[in-house]
Amino acid sequence: MQDLSVLSEKMAAIKEEITSKVNELESSKAVYEFKKSFLDSQKGKISQLMKEMKNIAPENRANFGKSVNELKNWAGEVFDEIDQKLKAEEMKKKYESEKIDITMSAKMRKRGNLHPVTQVRNQLIDIFASMGFEVYEGTEIETDYYNFTALNTPQDHPARDMQDTFYLSPEFLLRTQTSAGQIHVMEKKKPPIKILSPGKVFRSDDDATHSPMFTQMEGLVVDKGITLCDLKGMLDVLVQKIYGEGTTTRLRPSYFPFTEPSVEVDVSCFVCGGKGCKLCKGTGWIEVLGAGIVNKKVLENCGIDSEEYSGLAFGIGIERIAMLKYGINNIKLLFESDLRVLEQIDD
Ligand code: PHE
Repeated sequence: MQDLSVLSEKMAAIKEEITSKVNELESSKAVYEFKKSFLDSQKGKISQLMKEMKNIAPENRANFGKSVNELKNWAGEVFDEIDQKLKAEEMKKKYESEKIDITMSAKMRKRGNLHPVTQVRNQLIDIFASMGFEVYEGTEIETDYYNFTALNTPQDHPARDMQDTFYLSPEFLLRTQTSAGQIHVMEKKKPPIKILSPGKVFRSDDDATHSPMFTQMEGLVVDKGITLCDLKGMLDVLVQKIYGEGTTTRLRPSYFPFTEPSVEVDVSCFVCGGKGCKLCKGTGWIEVLGAGIVNKKVLENCGIDSEEYSGLAFGIGIERIAMLKYGINNIKLLFESDLRVLEQIDD
């Protein structure tokens, strides 16, 4: 039989050991190991004590069991307490070491932007789409028929000299105007027609304001009772959206073989407001596009009854609009891909 007093001493010694060493523990891992040495169900010192039960006189067992349990519970609480305290300290250290300094300045990435011609093109499409226009993209290689003949410009017509043409063969050429698209649309679609046709055009022309390749945006409306008033109304909305409220247009008589009457459209100078400045060469007006009422012969060429329907057409030079809008004086600057220029233009 075990002597109870020996066991009590053992318990006191365990308590003493725990009390004296627990505060020296420096990590939750050390707590775990220390705890295990007392409470491990097999080898723990307290668990071992429990095993003495069978060696004790039966009348003392209940008391002994109670004391060991108390010791076990007490030890459990002591270990939990120190464990929580050390874990909290460890988390704090971890957070501090992993802290992200959000005040540090970030690396700035350079953002690209759309080419100015694309920006203006998209802007024009947005404005006309809001007026119900649909986009039709034609082809850059055209036949002489679509680019000239069907547009009332037969082979010997003097108007052909207005546009120096790059011929690929006697029949094929690089389109000189997006007007060629008008014919394709009117051949395929019956009125009402309301289309916008943006694209590259080509002319043997080269100076500060002309480039052998440039971009046009054709507009075509065919319906009953279309007049120049409709044209003026639409263009006023357009220039106000591009150059600001208060901007207006004026129409001057002009000549194109495929429109009759034909007009040259000027926009009131958005720099001086009409007083006269360098940009408008003192006139208060800037020429921006050609337009007119579709020539009856062109409608007939496409099988549209010119007694029943009438149409309006306009052709906008996109580079010209971009140059005026961004104050660029040489069209080549738009095609040289010089980042010093392009980076300045972002709407
Ligand atoms: N195609 C003409 C040009 O390139 C512009 C235009 C289009 C004029 C439509 C009238 C009607 O100069």
